[in-house]
Amino acid sequence: MGDGFRTLDMLDVRLAGYATGPSGGMPVVLLHGFPFNRHIWDPQQEPLAQAGYRVILPDLRGHGRSPSTPEPATMDAMAADVFRLLDRMQAAHVALVGHSMGGYVALAMVAKQPDRFAGLVLTNTRAEADDEDGRAARDATVADVRERGVDVLADRMLEKLVSAATRNAQPELVARLDAMIRQTPPEGAVNALLGMRDRPDRRDLLARIRMPTLVVAGADDPITPPDDARRMADAIPDARLEVVSDTAHMTMVEAPDRFTEILRGFLDDIG
Ligand code: MLT
Repeated sequence: MGDGFRTLDMLDVRLAGYATGPSGGMPVVLLHGFPFNRHIWDPQQEPLAQAGYRVILPDLRGHGRSPSTPEPATMDAMAADVFRLLDRMQAAHVALVGHSMGGYVALAMVAKQPDRFAGLVLTNTRAEADDEDGRAARDATVADVRERGVDVLADRMLEKLVSAATRNAQPELVARLDAMIRQTPPEGAVNALLGMRDRPDRRDLLARIRMPTLVVAGADDPITPPDDARRMADAIPDARLEVVSDTAHMTMVEAPDRFTEILRGFLDDIG
């Protein structure tokens, strides 16, 4: 059957999603960043489940165990995947947590169904679209991944992902992140890069976000610096900002206990 005959269902992605914690608990969906998978939330999973939350952990399209599609993975497409998962689970009044690319997806979800969510957590992420240089850098990275695989991502990104403090104190974490990147299928990585390259600017949305929001930044994050987070928190009416010292882009694993404490405090407040 030719492409023209493919139905939407055939292009659909069946998302690998995992859930833990009591089925009656408030749903908390945690969206990982690029090029990772749900395991970045390992430190938060158990404490949140123990605290009575229904913790939902999807692997986003083309990452972890979720299949890729041949076309670019737009933030809207990834958002639609997560909505389908939440619909299947009949999850309403969800707390939505997004890390970096997962934050771009979270903002796409809030734009689509603002009343679906009880609260929003944006960690190590930003509302701005890529500028011209950023888009050109995405294209160059796409070409490199197509030619040499995802190893180029590990080689380039690792240095920026964690702080000097983390690198010195937690070499095993750096090795884990390195392995996670190298496990991401190249097609998934390429499609996500193209999707991020073309993502819309969400700054207009921020003032219209009507739910309690927590913005978290790593004090040493060169990818999504605290200033981006501050601008975002300032623009959202009911937002507060937490800047976590000695962490860079992977705050939830670099300072897992502190991150869990901040997240739990927020969830307990809105729950
Ligand atoms: C991520 O951590 O998801 C990415 O670094 C975000 C990006 O490249 O814009």
